[in-house]
Amino acid sequence: MNILILGSGGREHTFAWKISQSPLCKKLFVAPGNSGTAEIATNVNISVTDFVAIKQLVLLKEIDMVVVGPEDPLVMGIHDFFLNDQTIKHVKVIGPQKKAAELEGSKEFAKEFLYRHKIPTAAYQSFTKETVEEGFKFLETLNSPYVLKADGLAAGKGVVILKDLEEAKTELKSMLIDAKFGEASNKVVIEEFLDGIELSCFVLTDGKNYKILPTAKDYKRIGEGDTGLNTGGMGAVSPVPFATKEFLDKIEERIVKPTINGFKKDNLPYKGFVFIGLIKVGEDPKVIEYNVRMGDPETEVVLPRLKNDFVEILLAMSNQTLEKTAIEIDERAATTIMLVSGGYPESYEKGKIISGIENIQDSIPFHAGANIKDGKVVTSGGRVMAITSYGKTYKEAIKKSYQNIEKLHFDKMYYRKDIGFDL
Ligand code: AMP
Ligand code: GLY
Repeated sequence: MNILILGSGGREHTFAWKISQSPLCKKLFVAPGNSGTAEIATNVNISVTDFVAIKQLVLLKEIDMVVVGPEDPLVMGIHDFFLNDQTIKHVKVIGPQKKAAELEGSKEFAKEFLYRHKIPTAAYQSFTKETVEEGFKFLETLNSPYVLKADGLAAGKGVVILKDLEEAKTELKSMLIDAKFGEASNKVVIEEFLDGIELSCFVLTDGKNYKILPTAKDYKRIGEGDTGLNTGGMGAVSPVPFATKEFLDKIEERIVKPTINGFKKDNLPYKGFVFIGLIKVGEDPKVIEYNVRMGDPETEVVLPRLKNDFVEILLAMSNQTLEKTAIEIDERAATTIMLVSGGYPESYEKGKIISGIENIQDSIPFHAGANIKDGKVVTSGGRVMAITSYGKTYKEAIKKSYQNIEKLHFDKMYYRKDIGFDL
């Protein structure tokens, strides 16, 4: 089979790394890809949301399967675009159709889904420009801190948590009236604050059946001790040590099963990855959010622990034969540490030469915001490279990643030195 992966991050390099190990994959393309994918696949410089260019590529290279990495093309309806075009209808697209991708595209849609299917989540109400005064009143009924979420996609920046009631009101006004997040904040979901530790659960579905992948925990804040600004993710650990068998059973019974059944009941066509953001409140899991894709950097620790041929699994998702697939997981722990450009998640410089990659031993460097310029690997984004290692324990794996990071260098390189500190 010829396969096309859409995206350019560490997640997509990990997909390419895993897919290229499958004898079922003949030619592998990544659009637009990065310096890591360039080593194992053919990069094609087209945007993940340029559906017309993607179609042309699919026809030209006789692509049989498209694996969608990020959420934007899914929320924009790439799967439906393929299904509605006679010339590319036969191509297997991994990712939900537009209607189902709303679970990530609209926080309100997701909350309504969760409530409808009685899946544990934070209490909420949503507001628009017209109902901003009611929003103020609702905030007054809640206890601090206040959680405000822009309804639409806001590149991971649309959630604001504030301690002070007046600040929360000002924020609500700025989102709704001053369009702080553009159209994404035409509607705002205000939520009860949940206090607990976060983890992520990844589920594969073919629309009928499901399989649960290993859990992972990512570290979202830029600073050590989980301080400072939110990022896309600074590191990850799998499995999550505090996710005991008993806790995982609760996740499956109370959250995964009603979610997959909910897709069927609501007629949401879903052949893809479900990323369930969870928080452990006391001994109980509650849903914070759905994403309709894999996480990044969670993919860099989840996929390395999957022993199966990944293409076989992707085929089963597409052909609705997941029921017959047994998932095999590596017993070892996997961890990843993200190297980022100095200044990230605010402004940062690009084009810095990354040296020492060839000296890495016993870890896997998954490239993210890195590309090739004049024959050299240079930084091209905020999150530059994820260094993944295996270990008997997560501590052993983390140690290996840090040892290898010592060998890497680029100007103003930064990383958190405390990944796993809270486990
Ligand atoms: P989201 O984009 O919905 O994942 O939210 C971003 C981050 O905000 C999450 O990873 C949590 O750390 C935090 N968060 C979101 N909703 C809540 C909530 N109801 N209670 C506490 N923290 C939350
Ligand atoms: N690491 C969080 C995400 O991919 O959204």
